[in-house]
This record gives sequence, C-alpha cells and structure tokens, in this order.
Amino acid sequence: MINMNIKNIILPALFATILFLAAGCQVELPEPESPAAKLYLEKCSVCHSAKHPKILPIRIWKKQVKRMEEKVKTSGVREPLTEEELRIIIEYLEKHHRNRAV
Ligand code: HEC
Repeated sequence: MINMNIKNIILPALFATILFLAAGCQVELPEPESPAAKLYLEKCSVCHSAKHPKILPIRIWKKQVKRMEEKVKTSGVREPLTEEELRIIIEYLEKHHRNRAV
C-alpha cells in the first residue's frame, strides 16, 4: 500500500519535471496575448529567450534595451527597433518591471 502511494507521487512529479525541461528556458511573459508582449517576444528573443520583465527595475531596463539595440546594430540579426516599437517595449517593461529601486 505504501509503495503504491509513493509511485503515485513520484511518477507525476517526474513527468512534470520532464515536461518543464522540454519546454526549455522560455518563461511565461505577463499578458502573453497582448500586442506589446508579442512584440517584446518577437524582438527580444532573437539571440536569447525573452527575459521576464520582473527580473529588473525599469531604470535598468531602459539601459539594458539600449545596450541590446547596440548589439542588434553591430550584429545585424534584425532591424533595429523603430521609435514606436521602442516606446511599446519600454511601456510593457515599465508595466511589469520589478517594482522597487535598486
Ligand atoms: C543581437 C542579439 C540580441 C538581441 C536581439 C537581444 N539581446 Fe539581450 N543579450 C544578448 C547577449 C549576447 C547577452 C549577454 C551578454 C551581455 O549581457 O552583454 C544579452 C543579455 C541580456 C540580458 C541580461 C540577461 C541576464 O540574464 O543576465 C537582458 C535582461 C537582455 N539581454 C534583454 C534583452 C531585451 C529586452 C532585448 C530586446 C530589446 C534583447 N535582450 C535583445 C544579445 C541580444
């Protein structure tokens, strides 16, 4: 009886772990269906998976996005962001960023 119970716990846990690993490193972004999230995902997952906005405060995000755009310009992996795209992405990050000063 005890053995049965352990199996019932271990097997689903193992299965969940495998699924999680198979899904890769992509985190679930906030409001994934919004146009801003889709734009963010499209533009910021070219070289690495899109990072969750919560990992950084907005002050750092603004610098980080600039740094990333420098890489885009030197590598040519995609077109640089337009003013409009930049605004939407910064607004999206601002809405979901880590909400405290560092
Ligand atoms: C041209 C390829 C490229 C694109 C496009 C790109 N990145 Fe990056 N990103 C990198 C590289 C390379 C690193 C690691 C080296 C570094 O931080 O300089 C990095 C690192 C980061 C980090 C630090 C990650 C960590 O876990 O420490 C963040 C945050 C980040 N990128 C966000 C973004 C955002 C937001 C965008 C979209 C505006 C973006 N990236 C687009 C190449 C890119």
